[in-house]
Order: sequence, then structure tokens, then C-alpha cells
Amino acid sequence: MAIELKSTADIEKMRISGALAAELLEMIESHVLPGVTTGELDRICHEYTVNVQDAIPAPLNYRGFPKSICTSVNHVVCHGIPSDDKVLKDGDIINIDVTPIKNGFHGDTSKTFFVGRPSVLAERLVRICQECMYKGISKVKPGAHTGDIGQAIQVHAEKNRYSVVREYCGHGIGRIFHDEPQILHYGKAGTGISLEPGMTFTIEPMINVGKRDVKVLPDQWTVVTKDHKLTAQWEHTILVTETGYEILTYRNDDKIEKCT
Ligand code: MF3
Ligand code: CO
Ligand code: CO
Repeated sequence: MAIELKSTADIEKMRISGALAAELLEMIESHVLPGVTTGELDRICHEYTVNVQDAIPAPLNYRGFPKSICTSVNHVVCHGIPSDDKVLKDGDIINIDVTPIKNGFHGDTSKTFFVGRPSVLAERLVRICQECMYKGISKVKPGAHTGDIGQAIQVHAEKNRYSVVREYCGHGIGRIFHDEPQILHYGKAGTGISLEPGMTFTIEPMINVGKRDVKVLPDQWTVVTKDHKLTAQWEHTILVTETGYEILTYRNDDKIEKCT
């Protein structure tokens, strides 16, 4: 199946959805404090998405997911379900993953936040994981291959003695939440599909302190590291442009150029 190339009008809508997703993460930052529950973070994001942004939280009821955002704390890799019983404490790390739909288009982004003061271990993991995402993004240009992205991420993670989760990957995105192509966060340069202007997809590496193995909890959503060691994730939605990339979910705290 051919990969959809977005029209100029589609791209304008993707920019709007991406900006709303970025704004949601900027909005929630001041609420990520010791003592708050992940259920409360979900309610704040839901209200903001629906009432302020006039958008739809894509995760809610997606394949049965019960909440509007994913909140993945410490050894939770991804797809953590917000809960009023989960109270954040000083030193935790939490990935918040948001996906508003506006004008029929999705914007998908996540960030790992520190709750209070991070440990040295957590600070290093979260920083290297963000660097992995940036190294992947930096490979994006017409004619590059998806494997170039995967290799750049894997090399940086393993050079720092971390491991890359294999079971979940980046994905094409637009009117559809999870579309082709798959963007693996490991692999070999020159393999996979060739990138073309107008493609939109996410890059969202999950990087573990320990082994790469994961398991899904009986709730059928929460993904944890098998060894219960710390894990982090960062995600952006990317457009392939004539000259390289544009980060559609760019925030003011990003440490890379928005476009090339
Ligand atoms: N936002 C996640 C991603 O990056 C997907 C979450 S699906 C959900 O692809 F159902 F768990 F919300
Ligand atoms: Co995604
Ligand atoms: Co996401």
C-alpha cells in the first residue's frame, strides 16, 4: 500500500492539530507536581482539549482505552491509564502522551516530565531519550530511509548502555491515528521505505535503563519493563518537507530547530 502524501490543505490542518498537541503539554507542565494524581492530570487535559481547544481527545475510547491521555510513570513504558489512585511523588518521572483531533486531523506528542527533583539516573535517561528522538528527527529528508531514523536512535541509546523497546514504533498519522509507515526505533540505515515530501509520521522512542523486554499488564493497556527498571519516551509528529523536516508538535522548550 502506498503511503499517503498530504496536500497543502492537509498540511495546514496538521500544523493546527500539532500546535494544539504541543500547547496541551505546555499547559499541563505546571500541574505535574508531587501529590497530584494521574487521574487529575487526565481531567485537566480532557477539559482543556474539549472546552478550550474545541478538539477531541483521540485516546478516549480508542480501541477501548478509557481515558483522554496516557500517563506512564517510572517503569511504565507507554499506554499507562490515568487513575485517581496513582499519586505522583518527588523523584518520579512521567511520560504524558496527548493526541487531540482538530478538523479531522491528529497531532500526537509526548514528553517525559520530572516530578520534583530527579535522580541522577533519571535525569540521564530522560536526556538521552530526548537526544535519541532528535537524532532520529535529524535524519528526516526526501530520499532518506526509515531505517536511517531507526539506526540513529538505536546507536545513540546503546552507546549509552540503554536498550530500545521493539514492540512499539512510530507511525504514519493524519486523518488516521496509526497509519503506515511504521517507524522502527532500531535497525539499519538504507533499509525500509524512502521518505517523500508530504509524508507525516511520529518518532517516539522508548528507551530502557535495563533490558529491552516489556510485558502488558492484565488491564491489557499498561506496558511495563519486565525487569521493572526505569524507562522514558519522547514523541513528535513530523512532516517531510522538500528541504528536510518540520516538527509539527514543536514546543518552546525543544532543543532542536523546528524546521530544516
Ligand atoms: N499516543 C499513543 C501513540 O503515540 C497511542 C495511544 S493509544 C491509547 O501512538 F489508546 F493508548 F491512547
Ligand atoms: Co504516536
Ligand atoms: Co502518542
